[in-house]
Amino acid sequence: MAIIAPSLLASNFLRLADECAMINNSEAEWFHLDVMDGRFVPNISFGLPVIEQIRTATTKVLDVHLMIEEPEKYAEAFAKAGANILSVHIEACRNLHRNIQQIHDLGMKAGVAVNPHTPIHLLVDIIEDVDLVNLMSVNPGFGGQAFIPYTLKKIAELRQLINERNPKVEIEIDGGVNLNNAASIIAAGATVLVAGNTVFKSKNPIETIAQLKKI
Ligand code: DX5
Ligand code: ZN
Repeated sequence: MAIIAPSLLASNFLRLADECAMINNSEAEWFHLDVMDGRFVPNISFGLPVIEQIRTATTKVLDVHLMIEEPEKYAEAFAKAGANILSVHIEACRNLHRNIQQIHDLGMKAGVAVNPHTPIHLLVDIIEDVDLVNLMSVNPGFGGQAFIPYTLKKIAELRQLINERNPKVEIEIDGGVNLNNAASIIAAGATVLVAGNTVFKSKNPIETIAQLKKI
């Protein structure tokens, strides 16, 4: 049974309070919050003031995915805004080990996110220091893209590395997760499913979350 992390990027921002209440009333454990800066990725989403507001609307885990350059400049602000897990991209960090330490020192769990082109072996010397790996199954920047099938091989490789070096690390799969591919993603070794469009564009989001949870 995977942890379900609905991505608010696909929600209706005019009805954000209702969308938060829906997740609160569902079996989803985490809120997945996608922060984009228009530099690391070719899109801009939402940032600190929105996350501060969401913090007041839930006691569930806020899983913040930073798709930004120089994340070290903002880690403290995201801690103050109420993030529980903060993930930074390996491709955006020249000093990843220091960034992970900073996130831990601020009292958050630390994740490293990896783009589709980034090989798993680059995680070998950081895997013992992180709590989560966000394995991107689409190119970051947009919701609603198709799952890249090669990700399944990367999940299996990452599962093996994690089992050998740090078994408690969560493997989060982010992008294009749906009711058809979730079983193979979990079978390959994932423990957290991010789902944006699959949840928020469905007729009954609470039921869709329940179905993902059953897989
Ligand atoms: C993409 C984001 C994802 C996205 C997932 O850059 O990191 O979290 O919101 O959306 P879906 O599930 O619609 O692909
Ligand atoms: Zn994300």
